[in-house]
Amino acid sequence: MKFFADTADTNDIRELADAGLLDGVTTNPSLIHKAGRNFLEVVAEICEIVPGMPVSAEVVALDHEGMMREAEIVRKIADNVAVKVPLTIDGLKTCKALTDDGTMVNVTLCFSANQALLAAKAGATFISPFVGRHDDTGYDGMNLISDIRLIYDNYDFATQILVASVRHPIHILESAKLGADVMTAPPAVIRQLVKHPLTDKGIDAFMADWAKTGQTIG
Ligand code: G3P
Repeated sequence: MKFFADTADTNDIRELADAGLLDGVTTNPSLIHKAGRNFLEVVAEICEIVPGMPVSAEVVALDHEGMMREAEIVRKIADNVAVKVPLTIDGLKTCKALTDDGTMVNVTLCFSANQALLAAKAGATFISPFVGRHDDTGYDGMNLISDIRLIYDNYDFATQILVASVRHPIHILESAKLGADVMTAPPAVIRQLVKHPLTDKGIDAFMADWAKTGQTIG
């Protein structure tokens, strides 16, 4: 499963990329607001930090013509930009036009398997089902992932399932077990994956015994 960082914080992206943990980055208007930086500039910088890896940048127009106008600007930033569009008729129309033209498209704000089916038919490169926001309403968001996986496999759709709105390590574990293609998570959640109390305890014990040997390496 590919790991994308769901952030516009370039320090976090650099750190995770240096550790070999990243296969791409996703942003959205809220994350751009949080970063407090110019949208086009920060997307360009991210594209340089992770060359060749998909970097999702979201258009904000709600009509097809407006989305296409904005997409023209956004996709010129770098070859690895994936234009992010909302799951609406105008968004799907934009998705089809852009993918027909060889641009990667991430269809976002997906909350049902039928919506995911439409995105695949429109040729989306990625579909972003939001699991955490589903959980917030009392529905298990992971059920959506297993339904989409089943449907895409039934018909050999090439659209990649990009699990979004990931809030904790269990979302990542379940995504991998269900065969999601990609998950995107905040850097803090990706860092949580490395933590295990027995790893920390083991390090402490080894360090204590090593100190007793009185040796040094090198
Ligand atoms: O990028 C879209 C998605 O990951 C947002 O997550 O936590 O705002 O629901 P969240």
